[in-house]
Amino acid sequence: MCGIVGYIGYRDAWPIIIKGLHRLEYRGYDSAGVALINGTFNIYKKAGKVSDLEKFAEGKNLSGHIGMGHTRWATHGVPSDINSHPHTSGDGRLAIIHNGIIENYSSLKETLLSRGHVFKSDTDTEVLIHLIEDIQDQTNLDLREAVRIALNEVIGAYAIVIMSKDDPDQLIAARKGSPLVLGVGEKEYFIASDASPIVEYTKNVIYLNDNEIAYIKRDELLIKSIDNVVQIPYVHELELKLEMLEKGGYDHFMLKEIYEQPRSIRDCMRGRIYPQEGKVQLGGIKEYAEKLKNVDRIIIVACGTSWHAGLVGEYLIEECARIPVEVEYASEFRYRNPIISEKDIVIAISQSGETADTMAAIQLAKEKGATIFGICNVVGASIPRLSNAGVYTHAGPEIGVASTKAFTAQVTVLTLMALYMAQQRGTIKQSELIRLLTELDNIPLLVERCLAYNDRIKEIAEKFKDSRNFLFLGRGSGFPVALEGALKLKEISYIHAEGYPAAEMKHGPIALIDEEMPVVVIATKNASYEKVISNIQEVKARKGIVIAIVTEGDREVVQMADYTIEIPDADDIFLPLLATIPLQLLSYHIAVMRGCNVDQPRNLAKSVTVE
Ligand code: AGP
Repeated sequence: MCGIVGYIGYRDAWPIIIKGLHRLEYRGYDSAGVALINGTFNIYKKAGKVSDLEKFAEGKNLSGHIGMGHTRWATHGVPSDINSHPHTSGDGRLAIIHNGIIENYSSLKETLLSRGHVFKSDTDTEVLIHLIEDIQDQTNLDLREAVRIALNEVIGAYAIVIMSKDDPDQLIAARKGSPLVLGVGEKEYFIASDASPIVEYTKNVIYLNDNEIAYIKRDELLIKSIDNVVQIPYVHELELKLEMLEKGGYDHFMLKEIYEQPRSIRDCMRGRIYPQEGKVQLGGIKEYAEKLKNVDRIIIVACGTSWHAGLVGEYLIEECARIPVEVEYASEFRYRNPIISEKDIVIAISQSGETADTMAAIQLAKEKGATIFGICNVVGASIPRLSNAGVYTHAGPEIGVASTKAFTAQVTVLTLMALYMAQQRGTIKQSELIRLLTELDNIPLLVERCLAYNDRIKEIAEKFKDSRNFLFLGRGSGFPVALEGALKLKEISYIHAEGYPAAEMKHGPIALIDEEMPVVVIATKNASYEKVISNIQEVKARKGIVIAIVTEGDREVVQMADYTIEIPDADDIFLPLLATIPLQLLSYHIAVMRGCNVDQPRNLAKSVTVE
């Protein structure tokens, strides 16, 4: 996810744009750039934060009443000066900034290369501006028509702003799948990824719709559909207060990121599943397809929440691809002199891509000859650079220290990997793959339904906000969900919580049960449902309080649990994606009710780069 700002009007553009980029920095912060026109194109861009760009631009020509700016969350091409936006056409006439992913950029790039185009960066965005230039060269069409034709050739998601040196009084903006807001002023217009850069100048905004293109001049706005039909824009009046907007209207980044999960899971799957064909495509590991056919052991190394995702991965890969999997705490693995050979594949899972223990673990495995796959949320981070191959989660920047959308994105990637491996090894019939991928394609909607129980979860949180201990129980893939639920609660509310395999209760923890002890049980309809019911009865027999996560419509557990939270029914392998959502919300609400600093809990850091 990146941040986009544009301005055209009577004011100096630079101050508006750079301030807007600061407001959008939560959306991405690995590089930033600005383009201004005042007779000539002045483009300043570099790796680093917006403040680094500001220092870099000091003393330079920052004049002009039209411009655009971008703060990047890299998806294609590592964070670097040359990969930062804006990107320009080969002849330097055109400039573009882009938020999104152009899935067919490599085929477009091949065609443009064959026509003599020379690229400076590794980005998909640069391909788009060269495509527009190429269309103008081939057809002599004006910029507006060339942009429209180019966007009809693009597959993927985009929010773009384009400027031309030959047309210094026009901005062209377009969106499909990534947000763009237009601010409507008096003889001035603003463009941004959300309203935060706009709201201090005007409350009147137009939310551009998918497949719409806006042609913007100082005193004229024309919006057309991508098939050239004029659209009548609807001007909304913003009610949100500025300080809320940086969090997209949510009280905390964590809550925003919990609610982003339908989108982030969709982005994670985009361009990677073809349900009708029963096909999974993972370009980042396809060169190891043969090795995946014959590998006889996979080791997963990670820390914290990412380690919980690894436990889910063990269940998924063994269930679907029948490959033995071992999941290791990276901090233990790295000091244990593990037995590793070149036959092994080691999967490193890390949201930040900078966790010291995980990096050390894969360095050790690499020295012993293993093949390393990375699953990471930050393009160009250390762990992806250390890996032989991998799959990015595309969840967008996760600001809240407690990982939420990154976890479900990691589990989504592991689900795709498990199905991809099954596809390579023929361990799942084609018809079953079609069924599973069709259901997976629908998961973002089921996550929306999980989120709809928020008020119910908040009521339950109110009853347990003063509890001193919690137990979380689950079986099968519900066990790592129980561990993740316990970690979420303890790291943001500071309540002691333990996750346990439900069957393990009898081997000790049941001694803890009394009427003060809330026990959260993952009790959804799956293979171990009857066994979990017995565990609930064991807890109730000792006066424990049971909060059960159940499948919608459940009639048995609701009779015995003290509180139930429903989630939609889904195949067992998708349970972790759904059952985690209510646990994230439960922890969030309890922490807020306890007055804890939800986004920056005490003693914690977003990325543990120390050992
Ligand atoms: C998760 O809520 C925690 N913030 C923490 O456990 C985190 O998952 C762990 O530090 C690993 O971080 P990584 O995914 O960036 O490697």
